[in-house]
Amino acid sequence: MSVTVIVGCQWGDEGKGKIVDMLSNRHDVIVRYQGGANAGHTVEIGEKKYILHLVPSGILWPHTTCVIGNGVVLDPIKLLEEISMLREHGIDCGGRLFISENAHLIMPYHKAIDSLSEKNTLKIGTTGRGIGPCYFDKFARRGIRLQDLAYPEKFRQKVEDNVREKEYQVARFTSEKLFDTEEIVKTYLAVADQLLVYKANTVVYLNDSIKNGKRVLLEGAQGALLDIDFGTYPYVTSSSPCSGGASTGTGISPNKITTINGILKAYTTRVGEGPFPTELFDADGEKLRSIGREYGATTGRSRRCGWFDLPLAKYTLMINGVTEISLTKLDILDSFEEIKICTGYRFKEEFLDIFPSDPEVLKQVIPDYLTFPGWLTDTTAIEKFEDLPEKAKNYISYLEQNLETPVKYVSIGARRDQIIIH
Ligand code: GDP
Ligand code: IMO
Ligand code: MG
Repeated sequence: MSVTVIVGCQWGDEGKGKIVDMLSNRHDVIVRYQGGANAGHTVEIGEKKYILHLVPSGILWPHTTCVIGNGVVLDPIKLLEEISMLREHGIDCGGRLFISENAHLIMPYHKAIDSLSEKNTLKIGTTGRGIGPCYFDKFARRGIRLQDLAYPEKFRQKVEDNVREKEYQVARFTSEKLFDTEEIVKTYLAVADQLLVYKANTVVYLNDSIKNGKRVLLEGAQGALLDIDFGTYPYVTSSSPCSGGASTGTGISPNKITTINGILKAYTTRVGEGPFPTELFDADGEKLRSIGREYGATTGRSRRCGWFDLPLAKYTLMINGVTEISLTKLDILDSFEEIKICTGYRFKEEFLDIFPSDPEVLKQVIPDYLTFPGWLTDTTAIEKFEDLPEKAKNYISYLEQNLETPVKYVSIGARRDQIIIH
């Protein structure tokens, strides 16, 4: 049995797309288990660059089958755009992509409410993709699922009921009538057949695949610190990116998961609002952003950058049960004379070596740093771990020892081939 979960262990954008693509070579079925088109997973193959929002990054290998699990919130229009983008690149999803009949649909009112909430209530800095409002409806038990598209009358009734509800909800922000049931029904039913060809009982498909010896790779979106339960609430997303979410988002039980690969960037980034203890506001931060091309793959927003945070990583490895680490973007540190790792925080008179869960504490902590000498060597063409500069090996070995978890992959460039197996 081989079921591997890929989980982001910071605030997203750790390089999950690149690692999933690399591992897809040795897997048969690649599955997205949560989130939606808020994700932006980049894969670079030679001169080609793909940004995937909903379709699993494993689709780029011809031998794979891809699944969008029940935990995902699906924007039908974005999905169809992505499928046609792939087709233009010669990649056909027909017969290779299955979508859970239970996946909830993002509706136009979800996106409108997402943007109205950002303007008028709590500013989270969301991607504006309607994610929170769609999960809100899922948990309120009035969501609309992919399978509902197969029953036009039932679908129409659900849209009408929801629109009535949403009109009350937005009345405090605007007197305009924002939603038109007939327009929504027309738009969605017009593409229903194109979507329903992908509909499947993915729970049975995945469990049968495992039984038949297929190797399954579960692709998390976002990151552990954006998790609705374990992240820096309320500055989080509305799903469960952590490894536990891989079970609830697919129907693969926890005892079938064999490997949990945690992705850590060699430094830290965050998009949107919320606390970020090691954030840099100086030339080093700007350098990480410009060399690391730290601009959002979904919204194009500039990412906040800072040094690696060890207590943060200890916490996220613990809650995910990470069994091996993929360390990405090591090459971005190649030209730094000094590189820092946060080993703990000062809070008033105290020293904290655990990631605080109290947001009031988290926003006031001052990081304590250990400084490492930079290796000042281009690592982007290195193929073997032994050939990395000694100082880079020391940096990695410090992380391995302190995180008590092996670093199995070191990524030294965006391209598929720029990977070192340790
Ligand atoms: P994801 O959301 O976790 O899949 O990450 P993103 O795709 O949003 O952001 C990661 C960015 O870093 C993308 O532009 C990748 O092409 C790029 N990338 C991934 N791994 C590496 C690496 O090891 N080195 C460099 N230089 N770029 C990388
Ligand atoms: P990938 O999969 C980084 C952030 C948003 C915002 C918060 C809530 O590419 O790593 P949402 O639209 O989900 O309600 O926004 O979560 N966020 C991400 N940050 N990478 C992502 O995905 C993200 N998806 C959401 O910036 O702070
Ligand atoms: Mg991303």
